[in-house]
Amino acid sequence: MTLSLIHALRVLRLSQSFILEAEQAHEQSVNGLTRGLEIQGRVFSSSCVESLSVHQIVFLLSFKGPRLRPSEPAEEKDMRKVLLGAVLMLVILLILALVVGRFGLMPINADGAHSSLEARIMPQVLHASIVRHAATATNPLAISEENLKAGASTYKDMCARCHSTPGHNPSAYGQSFYPPAPQLSGGMPNYTDSQLFWTIKHGIRNTGMPAWGSMLSDDEIWQLVSLLKNSQDLPPSVESEWQATKNRPAR
Ligand code: HEC
Repeated sequence: MTLSLIHALRVLRLSQSFILEAEQAHEQSVNGLTRGLEIQGRVFSSSCVESLSVHQIVFLLSFKGPRLRPSEPAEEKDMRKVLLGAVLMLVILLILALVVGRFGLMPINADGAHSSLEARIMPQVLHASIVRHAATATNPLAISEENLKAGASTYKDMCARCHSTPGHNPSAYGQSFYPPAPQLSGGMPNYTDSQLFWTIKHGIRNTGMPAWGSMLSDDEIWQLVSLLKNSQDLPPSVESEWQATKNRPAR
């Protein structure tokens, strides 16, 4: 059919470039392609070109169909769709947040059960922020019995009522916060000295953890850091000072 089609087009005295395009169109259709082909600005399916007779081809080529718009690259179109979707999503989320806040749908009680999603995500957010904000300073104080004792004394006065002391039951007071105050035991391996210092000095917003920088000197905070970091290996005199803490038991 290819030869007879091209011969027929020649006979019909069509221009050389026109014939060339028909040849290419036909070649592609013979290769089994089924995507659309553009012939002089009109679109035909290549499988359809293959099954056409000469007369039909000539008719189609002379048909004044809609010319193709200069086509936009497919990637740009996809990109625009993705962007539009993202903006729409943001607007919906904003409206949702406004509705939830404005109509009092957000629970604010501190004695509610901690949602498992919150309990999983928030500690990671907290840790990441502390890591980012804390400087990389090292503890300037010597790990002496004197400093550890001073740390234990400050801890008893300022921290134990919420965080309890390792080896004691959790404090009922500390457990009534949302999130609850954790027990600071095990040498706090998740934090470096300076990260612990930063957390104690600056506190944790929207929780019960105060910013101790306005109540304790830097040295007192470093003494607390020394105590917490060495809590598993304390001299007996410091251990007994620390363990003398009494917490009110839960009801
Ligand atoms: C009034 C209660 C309260 C007091 C007093 C308090 N904290 Fe806290 N602290 C909290 C709460 C609640 C959290 C949990 C915050 C969170 O998880 O987002 C916390 C968290 C912390 C953390 C982070 C623990 C972790 O695992 O991420 C450290 C470190 C800490 N406190 C140290 C101290 C020290 C040291 C003192 C004493 C100088 C102290 N806190 C006094 C309530 C308290």
